Amino acid sequence: MKFSIPRGTFDLLPEGMKSGQKWRESSRWHFVEEQMRQLAFDYGYQEVRTPIFEYTSLFVRGIGEHSDIVSKEMYTFVDKGSRSLSLRPEGTASVMRAFVQGGMQSRGVFRKLFYMGPFFRYDRPQSGRYRQFHQFGAEMIGDPLPIRDFELIEMLCELYRRLNVKISPVKINSLGNAQSREAYVHHLRDYLSAHLDQLTPEGRKRAQNNPLRFLDSKDPKERELLKGAPSLLDFCDHESRLHFDILCGLLEKGNIPFCIDSQLVRGLDYYSRTVFEVDTEDLGAQNAVGGGGRYDGLLAKFGGSDLPSIGFAVGMERILSVMECQGCEIPPAPVPFVLFIPKGEQADQYVLSLLYRLRCQHIPSEMVAAKTLSKALQIANQLRARMAIVIGDRELEERRVCLKEMHSGAKSEVGISDLFSFLIQRWEEDGL
Ligand code: HAM
Repeated sequence: MKFSIPRGTFDLLPEGMKSGQKWRESSRWHFVEEQMRQLAFDYGYQEVRTPIFEYTSLFVRGIGEHSDIVSKEMYTFVDKGSRSLSLRPEGTASVMRAFVQGGMQSRGVFRKLFYMGPFFRYDRPQSGRYRQFHQFGAEMIGDPLPIRDFELIEMLCELYRRLNVKISPVKINSLGNAQSREAYVHHLRDYLSAHLDQLTPEGRKRAQNNPLRFLDSKDPKERELLKGAPSLLDFCDHESRLHFDILCGLLEKGNIPFCIDSQLVRGLDYYSRTVFEVDTEDLGAQNAVGGGGRYDGLLAKFGGSDLPSIGFAVGMERILSVMECQGCEIPPAPVPFVLFIPKGEQADQYVLSLLYRLRCQHIPSEMVAAKTLSKALQIANQLRARMAIVIGDRELEERRVCLKEMHSGAKSEVGISDLFSFLIQRWEEDGL
């Protein structure tokens, strides 16, 4: 039987990938994660870590019973205590629960939280769509103003800028408030009812149960039909429309390329007012590299104060793929600056203490014990070490070592008593 390795996880080797590539793969993840963490700190966010699984009811209540995510894509199971639990399909609902249950409200009503980690959706896997994938997300709780919408969209665009990822203009829309949305849904349902014969069975179900979800349809005929459907923005209440217009003005003045997509609703039911999504041209069908929106009523659903909130999440696998497609530069993984080849018991002891001192100075250093010198040098090459030093009993006796620059092959001698300070100096000159 052929063992198939789940894709989308970075610690397992996808088929066809060589072991050397695996090593480079995780260093690419580290780079992207560091950029995300730094961005979050620059914008004043603190990290929140929520459980990998939660009560199923949390997602049903938060994301919406009729959303694809809840109705089809959750990994749900019953535990030994007969509780229904689900692997988290997204982060917003869990962050809201943690915010309420963790008593964060008492520590002030404005809060910025970010997270990073694995999420799970049972969908047909394809390039860019995995059953286990990773998101970086940011949630801002407690401010209703459109300047916050701008700040968040700017932060999302800043992430792509820092990673050198080219994106399409940010798609934005407003879902209005609950009442205006209801009025819109009424009209949309009427429109769809008049065209029921043109809908797929799935489309008919959506048109009846949750017409807003119909706007997510990917079916080409249904997309064509949607061109004549009523527009959400035309139904927006006055305040939401004003909020949206202010946001558009801020984006224009802030030089953030955007376009209005009046049928953008996104696949989760908790959104209100602003929604946005970022695509790239380089990823084929699964081209959304990030998205989010306002979810002003969600916190109250979990028993919290009715604090207006807004957030986004980005798919980390998709970001890494698009970086590869677009040839974005990723700094190479650290390699040993110096690699020691100890020979003999006394030398082992000496090298161990030198390695410890160098590592305390954050200088990546390594040692290798091999049967022959040529084998040891071969390993030094594989590890892409900058220099190699053989230390045996003879070198300790003569108080001198021979240092080989791995790149040029040049050799030089250094006195043992100066070796540590020599290596520190070389690191300061050209190691960083
Ligand atoms: P979402 O649009 O469902 O939003 O997911 C955000 C991003 O996660 C997508 O744009 C995509 O890059 C990535 N993604 C989603 N599903 C998969 C998958 N199966 N495989 C690989 N990548 C995937 C949310 O999850 C909301 N919680 C975002 C949010 C935060 N809204 C407000 N706050």
